[in-house]
Amino acid sequence: MANSNSRAQWSSHWIFIMAATGSAVGLGNIWKFPYIMGQNGGGAFVLIYLVCIFLIAMPILIAEIILGRRGQANPITSIQHLAAESQQKKAWQCFAWMGVTCGIIILSFYSVVAGWIIAYIGEMSNSNLRTLPNEDISAKFGTLLSDPKRMLIWHSVFMVLTTSVVALGIKKGLEKATKILMPALLFMLLALFIYSVTSAEFAKGAAFMLNADFTKINLSVVLSALGHSFFTLSLGMGTIMAYGSYLSKKTSILRVSLYIVIADTLIAILAGLIIFPIVFSIGLEPSAGPGLVFSTLPTAFAQMPAGSMWGTLFFILLLFAAWTSAISMIEPAVAYCSEKTRLTRKSSAILIGGIIWGLGILTVFSFNTWAFSFEFLGTQKNAGFFDIFDILTSNFMLPLGGALIAIFTGWVVKKQYTQEELASSHTLFSIWLFLIKFVSPIAVIIILIYAII
Ligand code: PHE
Repeated sequence: MANSNSRAQWSSHWIFIMAATGSAVGLGNIWKFPYIMGQNGGGAFVLIYLVCIFLIAMPILIAEIILGRRGQANPITSIQHLAAESQQKKAWQCFAWMGVTCGIIILSFYSVVAGWIIAYIGEMSNSNLRTLPNEDISAKFGTLLSDPKRMLIWHSVFMVLTTSVVALGIKKGLEKATKILMPALLFMLLALFIYSVTSAEFAKGAAFMLNADFTKINLSVVLSALGHSFFTLSLGMGTIMAYGSYLSKKTSILRVSLYIVIADTLIAILAGLIIFPIVFSIGLEPSAGPGLVFSTLPTAFAQMPAGSMWGTLFFILLLFAAWTSAISMIEPAVAYCSEKTRLTRKSSAILIGGIIWGLGILTVFSFNTWAFSFEFLGTQKNAGFFDIFDILTSNFMLPLGGALIAIFTGWVVKKQYTQEELASSHTLFSIWLFLIKFVSPIAVIIILIYAII
């Protein structure tokens, strides 16, 4: 529809795949996936997660790329364009607003966690690591969490890193960062995998991942598998829509989507295959929750051969993964601001980055001064605002956003337009249309209603 002459475009469909994979692969894959899997029945969780990914999340990924590429603007304006094109109400833009807000909330706590990572790059490169007793190493995490000043500094550094890339625009910012960070990330990932196979308890770690304990599966587990499938593919908040708006009309959406889903899933599994064998190699307990990566793993690294070096590498890997994701979280809001107000891209990036930084302060204090506890679906939560933001976004806003995107693409946008964008065989189009019209929205809504009552 709208002409795309003046709009920036990714240089090739490979860059798009790399950028979208960079968005998808983040803390969700390397930090969250292994620990929720550890807590929720290992292989049984993986199975439910895979069903969610292929039947519910992937059709929505395709839908988001379709909407972005056809709308040729930031997510909010894209939805306005598409609603108008199909003679529907402009009010549909509401879910795009929710998505942009969701990105702002997620980045506010994501950046604090990314700040912990930067702090750990320093901790792991300490040459005395090996001589420290286990308790001292695992206690470092608690010390960090009780020190809001240190957390605030690293949160600020990470926000500056993220904002600078987005301020530079698509070609000079996002594309350049992708070209450097993604190959580096893959290289580190493979190196760490080889390390884990050769130096750690690989068989035991792999067995833990494959061993399915179905007794641990309950509603809360299904909800977190669904929420995580959205979170890990960066769906439900317009990120992929924004990236899709810079995609060439010639690219096959179906093909790039498949690559992104496969890369994201493989990397999550690879991350588990790196982390669990290392944890097992010194006989630690794997289902340690959020502290798995920040307390259990560093303790394990400290006892491994050349552990300080490999531990440092691991945290650099995490930082790169978090960085490419953070860029994509802020992009929808910055694109909206620079396309719809008189602010330049640079000023928009600084403004939005500043708001997110400020909101992040709530998370910084969630672990110390302002900490409070509550119960959610039978699980005890101790980190006040941080847990509230996490639950609100990954368990409710992202699935709801995803369901609305599915309904909008499947029911509101005219079939002729989605067919033009997908440009695939009739059978594949029909399968996708069925999933997006019925399976994705109904599954999400049923699970959400269950969770609420
Ligand atoms: N997909 C990212 C991860 O797995 C997180 C993310 C969510 C990024 C939403 C962008 C938008 O860590």
